[in-house]
Amino acid sequence: MPRIVTLAGDGIGPEVMEQAERVLRALPLELELDPRPFGGGAIKTLGAALPDETLAAAKSADAVLLAAIGLPEFDGKPVRPEQGLLKIRQELGVYANLRPAKAGAIDLLIVRELIGGIYFGKHGRHPDGRAYDTLEYSADEIERVARTAFELARTRRHKLLSVDKANVLETSRLWREVVTELGKEYRDVALSHMYVDNCALQIVLDATQFDVLLTENMMGDILSDEVAGFCGGLGLAASASIGAAGTPGIFEPVHGSAPDIAGKGLANPAAMLLTTSLLLAYGLGEHAWAAKLDAAVAHALTVVQTPDQGGTASTADVGDAVLAALGL
Ligand code: NAD
Ligand code: IPM
Ligand code: MN
Repeated sequence: MPRIVTLAGDGIGPEVMEQAERVLRALPLELELDPRPFGGGAIKTLGAALPDETLAAAKSADAVLLAAIGLPEFDGKPVRPEQGLLKIRQELGVYANLRPAKAGAIDLLIVRELIGGIYFGKHGRHPDGRAYDTLEYSADEIERVARTAFELARTRRHKLLSVDKANVLETSRLWREVVTELGKEYRDVALSHMYVDNCALQIVLDATQFDVLLTENMMGDILSDEVAGFCGGLGLAASASIGAAGTPGIFEPVHGSAPDIAGKGLANPAAMLLTTSLLLAYGLGEHAWAAKLDAAVAHALTVVQTPDQGGTASTADVGDAVLAALGL
């Protein structure tokens, strides 16, 4: 029976995870849910954001469903919940973070490199007080995520835009070389390149021009929140973090722990439920149930809206509507 490690985390994490668990338990699928401590709560109770037992359970799971981590009380502290998130991504080798966005005529997919770049470079302070974060990429790190993006473009509209800062950064110049070379294997995919600043502008001007966007870790983090703003906000933005075939993926909404609304039952669980659909499809191969869950969430959003969508419904109301739409 497939085992899904669930990491509810902090803030609104447990609130939206509860709705995902309700849906997964209601589906007529044999699944084991294996909840584990993770994030700021785990630092407080167990001394680590990613306890060893949690990591071991995740590594041996069929898929990992992760809600959100982060608590304001750890701001400025040396040990932070975010370190656990970066570590589990690195340990599971999930190098490609797929962030789909749909709204009206917009239908795009950001493929964000997830376990390299400035997030994983050297960080520190020099004796004179200067701070540094180093940005490095190897050709292999670029090629594997680019291959994922080309393959996904083939399942869509055959357009791939690689986003970089090659007018300034050496890592971006390598990025462009590697992606261009790999493009020769994918002649059926129309490859183009754009600087990230112009891309940020083009998203605002007309996001319908994009199919698949491929970019490095930090640029992808920023652009995906921007895109989410055009597609109903972070309450709707889902993502899948995947690595080599046969290894468990991490399925995680784009949003964080939203401390400003945590504990009030106001969080929109749609992003988490659409993420659950990505888990069903990419993690378990249950494509039919993934499509049904997507449709149920879309329908539920026409009936009930949390405050981020302009309504007054609660987190659980949306979960109820999704279960009703699924007929479960
Ligand atoms: P955030 O994504 O938590 O919130 C940004 C804004 O979006 C807030 O106004 C919030 O209320 C709103 N929002 C987010 N999710 C929502 C939802 N499901 N329903 C309704 N509104 C929602 O980003 P932030 O405030 O910059 O960060 C808060 C904490 O979360 C920080 O500690 C940060 O490091 C962490 N974080 C974690 C993840 C993750 O776990 N994957 C992602 C991003 C940020
Ligand atoms: C995200 C988040 C994380 C990231 C943080 C919390 C480390 O913003 O998942 O988008 O930057 O990857
Ligand atoms: Mn982010």
